[in-house]
Amino acid sequence: MAQNINVASPEFDYTIKIGSGLLDKIGEYVPAAPSVVITNTTVASFYGKRLPQLLPNSSVITMPDGEQYKTLETVNGLYPELVTAGLDRSGTIMALGGGVVGDTAGFVAATYMRGVRFVQIPTTLLAMVDSSVGGKVGVDLPQGKNLVGAFKQPEVVIIDPDVLATLPEREWRCGMAEVIKHGFIADEQLLQPELWDKTQAEILIARAVAVKVKIVQEDPYEKTVRAYLNLGHTFAHAIERVSQYSWPHGEAVGVGLVAAARLSYVLGLCSAELSEKVEKVVSTVGLPTRIGDLDPAELFAAMGSDKKWQAGHSRFVLLKAIGQPVIA
Ligand code: NAD
Ligand code: GLY
Repeated sequence: MAQNINVASPEFDYTIKIGSGLLDKIGEYVPAAPSVVITNTTVASFYGKRLPQLLPNSSVITMPDGEQYKTLETVNGLYPELVTAGLDRSGTIMALGGGVVGDTAGFVAATYMRGVRFVQIPTTLLAMVDSSVGGKVGVDLPQGKNLVGAFKQPEVVIIDPDVLATLPEREWRCGMAEVIKHGFIADEQLLQPELWDKTQAEILIARAVAVKVKIVQEDPYEKTVRAYLNLGHTFAHAIERVSQYSWPHGEAVGVGLVAAARLSYVLGLCSAELSEKVEKVVSTVGLPTRIGDLDPAELFAAMGSDKKWQAGHSRFVLLKAIGQPVIA
């Protein structure tokens, strides 16, 4: 049976539905209005034909696959396709895909005709537990990640863990980076390997989503505690950019968590044991813990354009203990 998690947002309340088989019942949960599904070429090859069959009055637009396409150029290409598809202000945009599709399609939904309704149908573990929840949408600039964006809350988030059957192993591990991030900032249970088995996916997802929901409800516009969700991300965004996005987000977050924990220890905020535990958990999940041949000087320079820097000062989310993140 599907689980419902309700989210109170400043604009309206919405539901995150989690359950096996939900994709086939999508018509019951989304607004009965003309809709356009935005997806990418890879996800379209698995699920692109199903949605128009299930949703009368819908069409599908595909974008290329990859973080390098989370750009204003892609957005510019999508707007005229929406016009051609006949989507007007009464319509709905649905994002079917991982975080890249969700962030890009959400930005389009926030801006097309000054905003149309938006539905998230995340298909990666990472998008299920993190990017589809909380309304952050946007695209990258050559100067840095997520530098153009908006807050656009979804009307509903439909999470069907069955779609993870086609997700490559490496992408599952990327999603685990955000799961364990949620574990370190707020829920130690998420760090138990017994919960990481794919047979437990629905429980794992619900538990990880609950962490994000609690935080975004308390601080929807990242004035205070929402920043904790950026644990490891100042490092991660620099790794992604310097590697020209050959490092996927989740792997960069893995190293970012290790670096944040190490910095926490060096600054005297946490114990050596905690720093070592973070590295052990990241490596047990199967994520990298080191930057390989990336140039530290280039990474340091790239960190300078991260959104999280304020008034020229670096600003890191660090850990005092499990469940005790701090901004330093
Ligand atoms: P992604 O969207 O690139 O997806 C990873 C890969 O999996 C892609 O090749 C995709 O085509 C493929 N894929 C997706 N679903 C599949 C499925 N069911 N079966 C087979 N293949 C599938 O990457 P991601 O890890 O989902 O998302 C990363 C992005 O999310 C980054 O841009 C990051 O900045 C963003 N993000 C946003 C937020 C937010 O709050 N908005 C939070 C965290 C991350
Ligand atoms: N960085 C994830 C979020 O704030 O939603």
